[in-house]
Amino acid sequence: MKNLLIINGPNLNLLGKREPVLYGSETFDGVIENIRSIYPQSSIAYFQSNDESALIEALHDASANGVDGIVLNPAAYTHTSIAIADAVAAIDIPVVEVHISNVYGRENFRQHSYISKFARGVITGFGVDSYRIAVDYLLRS
Ligand code: DQA
Repeated sequence: MKNLLIINGPNLNLLGKREPVLYGSETFDGVIENIRSIYPQSSIAYFQSNDESALIEALHDASANGVDGIVLNPAAYTHTSIAIADAVAAIDIPVVEVHISNVYGRENFRQHSYISKFARGVITGFGVDSYRIAVDYLLRS
């Protein structure tokens, strides 16, 4: 059985209410329930924080707790956080960077990610299905 962890960054606690044209109207509770029902043979934990240091600690703890793979949506910290990029580089677990929206079709400042260099790959623009695609990859790898 594989242990995966999905980590969501700032403002993603508002999913479902936040800018639904960009991010859809489904809450993350619904998203994760759906993913768990598709992959009942795996354990998929979830952590969300609006706080940069809590996200970094979740990455460190995942490494200590034997997590096999991480799906990370760093949200706005994607474009600002060298500290989260360093945490991804520091741990020995595959990390798939995901975005709900297509960051390459949006403002210029969203088109640079500090995280991507250290991620196994990036999935962007498939709506909340981006998470399932990343989970699917990690369970196969
Ligand atoms: C996001 C894209 C980011 O640019 C933005 O700051 C977010 C969400 C996405 O999932 O599309 O908060 O990561």
